[in-house]
Amino acid sequence: MEKILVTSALIYANGPLHIGHVAGAYLPADIFVRFHKLIGSDIIFISGTDEHGAPVSIRAEKEGITSRQLVDHYHAQIEKSFQGLKIDFTNFSGTARPVHHKISQNFFLQLFDKGYIIPKIGQQFYCEHDKRFLADRYVEGECPFCHAAGARGDQCDNCGKLIDTITLIDPSCKICGNTPQIKETKHWYLELPKFESMLRDWLMTKSHWKDNVINFIMGWLNEGLIERAITRDINWGIPVPLADAGDKVLYVWFEAPIGYISSTVEWAENIGNPERWKDYWFDKECRLIHFIGKDNIPFHALIWPAMLMEQSEPYILPGDIPANEYLNIEGSKVSTSRNYAIWVDEYLKYFDGELLRYVLAANAPESKDSDFTWSDFQVKVNSELANILGNLANRVFTFSKKFFDGKISRPLELSESSDSLLSNSLEIISVIESCYRNFRVRKAVNLILDLARSGNRYFDERAPWHAVKTDIANAEETLYVCLELLKKITVVMTPILPGKMLQLRSMMMLSENYQWDSQEELIPEFHIGEIEPLFIKITDEQIEEQRILLEGSAETETAPPVHKPEISYEEFQKMELRIVKIIKAENVKKSGKLLQLEIQLGSETRTIVSGIAEYYKPEELINKKVLMLMNLKPRKIMGIESQGMILAAVDSETGLSLLQTFRDMPDGTEVS
Ligand code: MF3
Ligand code: ZN
Repeated sequence: MEKILVTSALIYANGPLHIGHVAGAYLPADIFVRFHKLIGSDIIFISGTDEHGAPVSIRAEKEGITSRQLVDHYHAQIEKSFQGLKIDFTNFSGTARPVHHKISQNFFLQLFDKGYIIPKIGQQFYCEHDKRFLADRYVEGECPFCHAAGARGDQCDNCGKLIDTITLIDPSCKICGNTPQIKETKHWYLELPKFESMLRDWLMTKSHWKDNVINFIMGWLNEGLIERAITRDINWGIPVPLADAGDKVLYVWFEAPIGYISSTVEWAENIGNPERWKDYWFDKECRLIHFIGKDNIPFHALIWPAMLMEQSEPYILPGDIPANEYLNIEGSKVSTSRNYAIWVDEYLKYFDGELLRYVLAANAPESKDSDFTWSDFQVKVNSELANILGNLANRVFTFSKKFFDGKISRPLELSESSDSLLSNSLEIISVIESCYRNFRVRKAVNLILDLARSGNRYFDERAPWHAVKTDIANAEETLYVCLELLKKITVVMTPILPGKMLQLRSMMMLSENYQWDSQEELIPEFHIGEIEPLFIKITDEQIEEQRILLEGSAETETAPPVHKPEISYEEFQKMELRIVKIIKAENVKKSGKLLQLEIQLGSETRTIVSGIAEYYKPEELINKKVLMLMNLKPRKIMGIESQGMILAAVDSETGLSLLQTFRDMPDGTEVS
């Protein structure tokens, strides 16, 4: 029997659950767990809320309540949303609980005692206005790697890189908007370089991981690991367990993954078997699988394994990290700050949670970003669930009741078309099984739908409505085979639509306890009980209503921009701005972000390095005239001297656009 410990990322308790979270880290995990329960694996499913850190304390400060009040509120709300979607955790804990504090402090101390955590005087942003040090997300600015605006102090959403806060360009304090100063302060650092070779050896054994995960980690390792500060100056968190640590707390990303352990410990205590968690965490045969969104990759694939490796207890290491890409909505990125999201608690006021499970599974962002649209939701529910699966059940059940009093017996012998339908379905089911095992839910859904389609085709071809008048045995055989197929579908669709499949089984008076194998054996006689519609179609009006809700709730007015201090005209005049022509453009080697440009103004040429490679191909820039700041002090970027800067408009969602003039102007023209 396989033993598996599944976790889903601990969601920040600083806001409600939205469908992007669900598609990334929770639904794929729940489907995997439900599948494994069907095949009889020994599996537990662990998660909880991530209750500390700047994301939580910033939100609490904004709302004028305590962090504790905030997390209690959202913990309860998020848990309820999960229930509405039938995401069925074995335990759902929270990191502000005492058990988690204790275990996290132990983790810290063990690493500290072994010399993997070292105090250092480092630099940090300090806001003179708010009189405090600004941890990670308390600062925003331009990303030092990809130059996207609005990068958070800990990580850039645009390029996904982790950021050392003080390297942010043009930083501003999230509380007051002022520019913070750099000051020295003491923090404790996790010495990641000491883990480098252990991590490399371990990762060598993980070649089966998804490409997005492998690429990310290899990129990191090749750039060389650096030590990471794992303490913070925030008044909400787990105290650093050292006498000279003052008020400092553990960095949320140091302690949050430990929440996987503490949530398992809490579960063991709750079931009255306090040692039970060790059966998973200390068993080398147990597979540890972390379901996460792609922004969580570095923490789960490098830092967290490093932390586990050097504990004295024999913790297992991550066996798989199925990281998903993002789910966009109606073509745009989810933005919680603009309230552009579909919140699960809102969704559940209008529709059944299982419909969302189906649609998100069919459209899972497994290997690339995917897009949720309300019209696709309607199409999937109406044309797939209702018209294909629901219709098959409905016509077979109604027919069976009408002509056979709801009792359909197995024919002595199956005709060729029946036999081939059923044996073909067994083959498809074995593929579905491997899809579930390998985190390929999209494909599983498609194949299940194919099963239902093949049933409808078979039913049509054999036209039992004619046969019933001439060859009753033939009609009964058709129904029998369709019922067999439906029975198989109730099993293999269970991970995706657990409640609906139970309902379907109850109409067929099949047992509520079933395993994956239960679909294999042919049943001697089917009985059809009370029938009721399985899927109700969604109307255009309902969809229109959701579209309006989505648009209406998204804050169309974005927050007012934070302005910079006034300057005089004389100061402005210090800038030399001109129109220049790009005459050469090529990618800077080993950098996906940078282009090396040669520009011309009259007889002068200059070299510029510009972080626009993600937005423009070199060839499309040739002969384009753009705006340039000529007298910016030259700086070396990747070893190339950049002599000025071309100007662009940058928006964190829309991306970047170079500036051009309304009319064609000769290169060299001054801009004022
Ligand atoms: N709260 C984090 C996020 O939403 C995820 C934490 S995952 C865990 O990005 F490892 F810390 F548990
Ligand atoms: Zn970036």
